[in-house]
Amino acid sequence: MPDILRDAALAVRENAHAPYSNFKVGAALRTAEGQVFVGCNVENVAYPEGTCAEAGAIAAMCAAGARTIAEVYVVAGSPDPVPPCGGCRQKLAEFGAGDVPVTLATVAGAERRTTVAELLPGAFDAGYMA
Ligand code: THU
Repeated sequence: MPDILRDAALAVRENAHAPYSNFKVGAALRTAEGQVFVGCNVENVAYPEGTCAEAGAIAAMCAAGARTIAEVYVVAGSPDPVPPCGGCRQKLAEFGAGDVPVTLATVAGAERRTTVAELLPGAFDAGYMA
């Protein structure tokens, strides 16, 4: 399964729109039902309005009616595997349990395996609003 996600993330990364950072990212996730959704970063000239690859994959999942992430793979053309930004960590925690594996990877093949809980310790969740 990691190979399927890696291939999907590498392929969608090619479609990233990143003319401002020149930093293309691809993300692929597998749902509890076994579907695979992908996303790439999409920037625009108003720099803060760009969206991350992870956010794109999550949006595609939700648009298809799925809600539960089982595994995530993120790949970038960096020397070391790139960790998701803070906002994407919260987005991943919305749909993925703490033990959901997240693989961060480089195009060259380096991989770092982590989990949703490791990426967002002390996460804010709906329980705090009870
Ligand atoms: N980016 C992602 O898409 N995912 C990450 O995990 C890290 C950063 C994007 C956002 C922006 O388009 C570019 O990488 C540089 O920050």
